Order: sequence, then C-alpha cells, then structure tokens
Amino acid sequence: MSRVYAIANQKGGVGKTTTAVNVGACIAEAGYPTLLIDTDPQANATVGVGIDRTRQPGLYQVLLCDAPIEEAIVETGVGGLSLLPAGPGLAGATVELPRLQGFEHRLRELIAPLRQRFEYVLLDCPPSLGPLTVTALVAADRIIVPVQTEYFALEGLASLLETLEKVQRQLNPRLTVAGMLLTMHDARTRLGRDVEEEVRRHFPELVFDTVIPRNVRIGEAPSHGLPVTHHDPHSAGAEAYFELAKEVAARG
Ligand SMILES: Nc1ncnc2c1ncn2[C@@H]1O[C@H](COP(=O)(O)OP(=O)(O)OP(=O)(O)O)[C@@H](O)[C@H]1O
Ligand SMILES: [Mg+2]
Repeated sequence: MSRVYAIANQKGGVGKTTTAVNVGACIAEAGYPTLLIDTDPQANATVGVGIDRTRQPGLYQVLLCDAPIEEAIVETGVGGLSLLPAGPGLAGATVELPRLQGFEHRLRELIAPLRQRFEYVLLDCPPSLGPLTVTALVAADRIIVPVQTEYFALEGLASLLETLEKVQRQLNPRLTVAGMLLTMHDARTRLGRDVEEEVRRHFPELVFDTVIPRNVRIGEAPSHGLPVTHHDPHSAGAEAYFELAKEVAARG
C-alpha cells in the first residue's frame, strides 16, 4: 500500500521543504521507491534535489495543460527518489486552478495510477492555505506539520487545523495528521526548551518524538542541490532526519 504525505504549514520558513526533501531521501535510501512532488511555485524542493526550476513539463503543465504526469517525473541524484518538479507558471495555477470544476480532486486523481510505482509520495506545500495546498491536502492520506521551535510557534496552527477539518469534512475524509515536527530546535536555549514543552503540552499525541536541531549542514545542503543526508550523512541534521523517517514509517 502506498502512502501519500503532504508537508504543510501556511507559515513560511518553518522547514517544510527541508523535511520533504530529507524524509524523501531517507525513505528512498531505505529502498522504497519515493516520489517528491513540488507544489510550491518557489520551487525550493525542485532546486534542493538538483533539478532546474525551468524544466518542463512540470506540475503546472500536468495540472492545467494535460501534460502526461509520467513525462513530468524525473530521476534525482538520490537513488530511488523521483521528482515531479514545480516549474514556470505554477504561480498562475493559484488563479487558474479554481476555475476548473472539481479542481480540488485533480491532483489526487492524477497520482492515483502512480501508487503502483511509488511506495511513498511526499507533497511539499507552499506557505499558504490557497488552492495548491488544498489540492495537496485532498491528494494526501496524511499530513506532516513542521513547526519552527521559536516564539509564536503555535500561532497559525489553529487556522491550519480548521482548514484540515474542513478538508476532512468536505473533500477528503481519509486525511489524518501523521504528526507535528519540531524544527530548527536549539536545545541550549531556554526558549527552545520552553517552546518544545509548550507545543508538546498543547498536542500531546501529535508531536513526533524526533526533533530536528538547528544545524548548519541542513542550511548548506540546498546550495549543493542535495539532501543533507547526502551532503553530510554524519551531521546531526542528517541523523535527525533518518530518525524521523523511521518514526514516520512506524506510525504508518
Ligand atoms: N534544521 C535546520 N537547521 C538550519 N537551517 C534550516 C533547518 N531547517 C531549515 N533550514 C533553513 O531554513 C530555511 C527555511 O527552511 P525551508 O525552506 O525548509 O522552510 P519552508 O517552510 O519550506 O519555507 P517556505 O514556507 O518558504 O516554503 C531554509 O534556508 C533552510 O535551509
Ligand atoms: Mg518550502
């Protein structure tokens, strides 16, 4: 059985792309064919695995121009990890998608045949609750919510959870929360420890045991077009993402 995960939080810069790229790399490395789908016009996941953001066809052509999805999927430098790139025009999809009847279900329908080929599909979402994120949430079985371990961490989570409930009620009753992930954590600071405690108190069942530390290697890796697990596999950042991938797989 394949599993489709959306990595989403409308707050910007919380570690969505980093998590999608690195969990994808770890799962692929463990031997499971994995597809990363970049649904963000910023195309950071695309560039982060070394693929040119001008490559066509990309997700825009698949969603709006009937390009065959198989033609848009490319191999990355990471064995077993394929990518459906974000590309030119995807920003326009925010306006054009809602004009299509039943657009919310489009991505789910398009990836249905790929569930044979890929055991894991990971959707990197943009920092908004707009049509591209809704499309991803409808396509997903599970959502992973990265939360940056800083002041205001909980802000915005209420509206994210409201959107989730709405999607579950109206569009995708199968959708469940895989977990919330504390990212960019600094265990040496009082703030880091306090925020972790607060998020765990609010969502005792949901927060992953694994915490992603703030780590220089994680920040560097995208400039090499590599996941940190390949840029520096022995760094604290890479080790944390390996642990997280195991926890994600174990939660099922
Ligand atoms: N654990 C970490 N340690 C150090 N730097 C990190 C870590 N996680 C992410 N970063 C860096 O922080 C920045 C934001 O991370 P990322 O792009 O993953 O967030 P995002 O939620 O996808 O952002 P956006 O909302 O813009 O899509 C990036 O420059 C990334 O390299
Ligand atoms: Mg991102």
